[in-house]
Amino acid sequence: MKTVNINRTDRLIAALPKGKLLQPAFEKLKLAGFIFSEADKKSRKLIIEDKSHTVQALFVKPSDVPIYVEHGIADFGIVGKDSLLESGVDVFQPLELDFGRCKLAIAGFPGDRNRNWRLRSSVRVATKYPGITRWHFDKLGVQAEIIALNGSVELGVLAQLADIIVDIVETGTTLKENGLVIFEDILPVTATFIINKASHKLKLRQLDAVVSALRAE
Ligand code: PRP
Repeated sequence: MKTVNINRTDRLIAALPKGKLLQPAFEKLKLAGFIFSEADKKSRKLIIEDKSHTVQALFVKPSDVPIYVEHGIADFGIVGKDSLLESGVDVFQPLELDFGRCKLAIAGFPGDRNRNWRLRSSVRVATKYPGITRWHFDKLGVQAEIIALNGSVELGVLAQLADIIVDIVETGTTLKENGLVIFEDILPVTATFIINKASHKLKLRQLDAVVSALRAE
C-alpha cells in the first residue's frame, strides 16, 4: 500500500480531529476546494492527501490538534473551542466555524441544584477539562477538588466519585438519560480554525485563501 510522508515545503498540513468533528471538517475543506478520496477517509491511514495535492491531513485525537498546530507540525487545524482552551496553546484563531456547537456546563443531581454548593468549604468536580474547570472555579472563588477523567464524566457523579461535573452538553440526552441537570453554563463551544504562528508568516497567501473561502461560505 502506498504510504504518504509529510511534505512540509509545498503542501499545507492540516491537523483534523478524529470523531464527531471530522466529517463536517471535510465538508468545510471541500468548500475551500480540497477534496479527499472516500477510500482514504474510511481507511486507517493517519496521513492522507487531497486530490489536488495541496493539503495533507493528519488524523489526530481532538485534544492533540492544538499541540500539532502549536509545534508547527501542522500549519492549521480544526478543533473544538473546549480542547483549544484546555490546551492553552499559543496559535492564531481567525475563524469560528458553524458546526460542533455545544457548551461546557456544570451539572449534577437535580436535588443539589438549589443547594448552594458555592458555599461549601470544598466541592469535588469530575471533568475531562481540569484546566478550564480550575480557571472557572478560581474565578468563582470556590475551592474545588478537581478529579480528571478521560470519558463518561457523568458517571463520576452517578457513582459518587464527585459532587458535580463540568462537561460538554450537546443535545442534553446524556444528562437526561442519567437523571442529571445543568446547574449553570460555563462557555459556548464551536469548532474553531486555528493557524500556527510561523506558518501564518511563511504560508500567508495559501492560508489566507483557505480562511477567505471558509469565511465567504
Ligand atoms: C460527550 C460529553 C457528554 C456527551 C454530551 O461525550 O462528554 O458525555 O458527549 O452529549 P449530549 O448532550 O448530546 O448527550 P462523548 O460522546 O464525546 O464521549 P465520552 O463520554 O467518552 O467523553
